[in-house]
Amino acid sequence: QVTALTAGAIGKDGYRHYMEKELHEHPLVIGQTLQRMVDPATRRVSLPDLPFNLASVPRAVITACGSAFYAGMVGRYWLEELARLPVDIDVASEMRYRDPPLTPGSLGLLISQSGETADTLAALRGLREKAIHILSVLNVEHSTMARESDTVLGTVAGPEISVASTKAFTAQLTVLACLSIATARARGKLDSLREEELVGALLDLPSRAADVFKQGDAIRTMARVVAEARDVLYLGRGSLFPVAMEGALKLKEISYIHAEAYAAGEMKHGPISLIDRSVPIVATAPSTPLFDKTLSNLQEAKARGGRLLVFTDTRGAERVGAIAEHMVVLPSVHDFVAPILQTIPVQILAYEVAVLKGTDVDQPRNLAKSVTVE
Ligand code: G6P
Repeated sequence: QVTALTAGAIGKDGYRHYMEKELHEHPLVIGQTLQRMVDPATRRVSLPDLPFNLASVPRAVITACGSAFYAGMVGRYWLEELARLPVDIDVASEMRYRDPPLTPGSLGLLISQSGETADTLAALRGLREKAIHILSVLNVEHSTMARESDTVLGTVAGPEISVASTKAFTAQLTVLACLSIATARARGKLDSLREEELVGALLDLPSRAADVFKQGDAIRTMARVVAEARDVLYLGRGSLFPVAMEGALKLKEISYIHAEAYAAGEMKHGPISLIDRSVPIVATAPSTPLFDKTLSNLQEAKARGGRLLVFTDTRGAERVGAIAEHMVVLPSVHDFVAPILQTIPVQILAYEVAVLKGTDVDQPRNLAKSVTVE
């Protein structure tokens, strides 16, 4: 599978930038990653054999940098909610200098596209010393982190050339979703009916992800508003909060527009004072159980003159349409996989803004694909 994708990855295949090409690979990459971890006939997750028992892990510590850290944040919601596993999470540049008290037998979950990021590697080594199991989610499977981990779960994303990560992120989420299901089952928190339901939602994703690209015009309309702004506020709740963070990071990285992501409910504790017509608000608000809460935060922002640019789904479209200046309507999917699907248009938005701004999309200033120094 990796070879097939690698062959197709030489050159830009007619796309303007590697990033555009890699964005279009989301459906393929999610599908190929699932092929490794899911049995479509039984609708069950089947992970490779692990050298430890997921059922007896008392706690997980997740650490990573950049986009991979946001993938880890989504993973925390899933592991807590589905598997009832206590999770601690921090960016690797902090984790490497923290000394969290950990029971031996805990799980260290490291996430990295390259497997070479200096801070993540240092955090891995620090966690190893505490006699905990090291499981890394990596795209480059022959990397330093791969060699130093007890187990590697591979993201089948193929080479990612664009400095800003795109397809590796959805592949990381796909792996973390499968790991969460497997952990939940091992811990007796998931019956087979519910597992079939969740796996079915994952298997549905590649075609739903392909549908996102039908929204290109709507996303470009939003991009024209964002490209004029100096500051942008991103909002999301629950597992959609890290998606908002990923959107803000991507915008900063490639369009050089200041963007900040906030948990939607936290807006009233500060950023609400920034809101006026010059600070557009980008929100991810699909119809998950937290939809009403997010919507009421958006109404508060609108009442203060905020311009709302909202990513929602077919079930949420009517209510979002009543308040948003522009919206992008995605297919409605299972709540569990909503963060994976919602990531795609948020990344496309950043790409389209960067194109409008005329920046060097694939090689943004001051950034490196893999940061191997502290
Ligand atoms: C750099 C890249 C980001 C990436 C981060 C972590 O900052 O520009 O796109 O998310 O490193 O990289 P890793 O290879 O560890 O996932």
